[in-house]
Amino acid sequence: MKVQRARREEAQYHHILDAVGQTPLVRLPKSFDPSCRATIWLKLEFMNPGGSIKDRIARHMLLQAIAQGQLRPGGWVVESTSGNTGVGLAMASAALGYGCVLVIPDNISAEKIATVKALGAEVVLASSAAPPGDPGHYKEVGRRLAAERPGSWWANQFENPFNPEAHERGTGPELWAQCRQGLDIVVAGCGTGGTLAGLGRFFNQHHPQVRLVAADPEGSVYAHFWRHGTLPEPGNRHHVEGVGGDQVHGVFAREWIDQFRTISEAEAMRTVHRLAKCTGIFAGASSGLALAAALEEGRESPPGSQIAVILPDSGSRYLSSAYDPDWRAAHGVDPPSCEPSATIRDLLAEPPAFSVDAKAPAETAYFLLHRRSLRPLPVIGDGRLLGVFDEAELLAAMADGRDWQATPCDQWLQAAPPVLAAEDAWRQTVPVLQHHPALVVAGETYWSALDRRHALRAFARLGLRP
Ligand SMILES: Cc1ncc(COP(=O)(O)O)c(C=O)c1O
Repeated sequence: MKVQRARREEAQYHHILDAVGQTPLVRLPKSFDPSCRATIWLKLEFMNPGGSIKDRIARHMLLQAIAQGQLRPGGWVVESTSGNTGVGLAMASAALGYGCVLVIPDNISAEKIATVKALGAEVVLASSAAPPGDPGHYKEVGRRLAAERPGSWWANQFENPFNPEAHERGTGPELWAQCRQGLDIVVAGCGTGGTLAGLGRFFNQHHPQVRLVAADPEGSVYAHFWRHGTLPEPGNRHHVEGVGGDQVHGVFAREWIDQFRTISEAEAMRTVHRLAKCTGIFAGASSGLALAAALEEGRESPPGSQIAVILPDSGSRYLSSAYDPDWRAAHGVDPPSCEPSATIRDLLAEPPAFSVDAKAPAETAYFLLHRRSLRPLPVIGDGRLLGVFDEAELLAAMADGRDWQATPCDQWLQAAPPVLAAEDAWRQTVPVLQHHPALVVAGETYWSALDRRHALRAFARLGLRP
């Protein structure tokens, strides 16, 4: 595979806040989910300097507050945050010389709390058990703190119009410019709703053919609110940080969203673990949620559709939670069993066909065998498997100095190992390969082989756990 390095324009900046945005767009390998008919593009928001998409709104909200005189030199930035907005605001406050106080629910990952502290922010923990509107709820604590502390500006991402505006002016146009093959669907999670509102406004105004799909964890009130305009009883709590909610905030814009997809916590976790293992893209659980929703869309879309997915933050924020098996066990989060719908076809290298015609000269088989490391080579006569090419016999002929090149392949037959169909589930290869060094694969229009070495490599590539 050829790896092309794209040139990052103007990669030199005079200020850390100038490095926010212009995040890479990376294609999801087709092998990640062969049943997905669309091409999926991943917008790596964890490449922002503060490590998440929230750097964009932190910068925009803060600069607007300064421009409008709401925040003066020596003042304090105060915010209620589930972490990432806090990191963005702590970074921007440190860079611009403001104090920063963050009210964070006590169930948020230790990494996020340690990060904002490292950036010089004060942290006030609020009980995650407090319901919306309760004086102890993190949003209310932040509001109170900002009112009490002189010189404070409450960022209030939940109602601040500059939250969606950062995406309308930044994320949306940037994504559109990057999608040179066109764009049919954008998928994003919903925390405050700012990302979806900003993207929705941009695409609706400038490229209304692009559909906006929201991903919501089970237990969140958003999907129900979008469908019915009313708030349901909050469901079970989930552990996908940063998305879903038990209330709907001011920035949430119902009108721009074309579809809501509800994804289970287990599916979000499974998807993001597999993403790390199969593609090397290390993202947080909310990225798994958005990607799982995008794959659902992609399975139902016409072939060739282009889907972009927002990956809000990095897996390194969740080493002590979503990526820690002990934490997952303690919190009843399903272990990430990797049991996708892969077939034997998905285990084969490209191109899948690997066989020789019975009447072809042995020289052809010799050529195929030294060109590809795969073994054994099926010999096919009239569309039927006659056996596999006998390499030991070929070597014997060579050693004896016999003429072998022109003799047809059906004179070099050896019994074939077991045959499996290409559309069978990948798992069926495991017991066969336990007892045989290789097997033959029967595709609809081709024959191939799969040996232990290639199978093990494919299991690792696809994140399959035999
Ligand atoms: C990890 C993560 N993903 C997704 C989101 C959703 O972003 P928004 O608030 O724009 O809806 C957030 C917001 O906090 C987040 O922290």
